Amino acid sequence: MKVILFGATGMVGQGVLRECLLDSEIESVLAVGRSPTGQRHPKLREILHDNFLDYSAIGSQWAGYDACFFCLGVSSVGMSEERYRHLTHDITLAAATTLARLNPQMVFVYVTGRGTDSTGQGRLMWARVKGKTENDLLKLPFKAAYMFRPAAIQPLHGVRSKTAWYQAIYVAAAPLLSLLNRVAPKYMTTTEQVGRAMIKVAKDGYPGAVLESEDINRL
Ligand SMILES: NC(=O)c1ccc[n+]([C@@H]2O[C@H](COP(=O)([O-])OP(=O)(O)OC[C@H]3O[C@@H](n4cnc5c(N)ncnc54)[C@H](OP(=O)(O)O)[C@@H]3O)[C@@H](O)[C@H]2O)c1
Repeated sequence: MKVILFGATGMVGQGVLRECLLDSEIESVLAVGRSPTGQRHPKLREILHDNFLDYSAIGSQWAGYDACFFCLGVSSVGMSEERYRHLTHDITLAAATTLARLNPQMVFVYVTGRGTDSTGQGRLMWARVKGKTENDLLKLPFKAAYMFRPAAIQPLHGVRSKTAWYQAIYVAAAPLLSLLNRVAPKYMTTTEQVGRAMIKVAKDGYPGAVLESEDINRL
């Protein structure tokens, strides 16, 4: 399986990259981002890009891939709806539309979050923007598209949050988070479980298009 990964420098993306590099059935990973991952691996190739609404300069390198794991995303905290929609909906759909055209046999996996609003019209700004993004992705002519809605995610195996105070909390609360993962899988997953589950749905499919934390943990 050949994979394209967006957001490989982020907390979720680092975890997904790790699992992809470890998986013997994944032949290669193309990481597309605005900054380097800092990793070297025979299976990993990187494209650095700066305009995430226009892929005409690099799109020709995207044909022949089996799966895309789209982990690029931002927090809505302190952001206007217009800016958040641009960074969430517009960037994701620009990449996905190009990928669907070049790879109709591709499986596309997108990370949203627990509480995403499928009506796209609810009260919570982030939830309706993510909901509209999911809905528009599901209309694209991929072989299949899966929406991952994790709640909290514990970083494992050296994966680090880019936000220093998040990272400090993850380290201090690690034993509690591990316990929560076992007793409350609805609310807690890990970067390893997210990565493994993405690979599994890309290989074997899944009965529904939306996977909540507990579905991710069961895979
Ligand atoms: N972390 C959680 O607990 C959690 C839980 C549920 C859902 N999620 C969702 O998972 C997704 C990823 O979250 P995360 O925690 O991994 O975020 P993160 O650590 O902040 O990483 C964000 C990733 O997106 C890239 N990115 C951000 N803005 C960009 C832009 N304007 N242009 C190009 N690349 C950009 C970053 O690249 P740079 O390295 O270049 O900045 C980085 O690779 C988000 O959609 C988030 O809502 C996260």
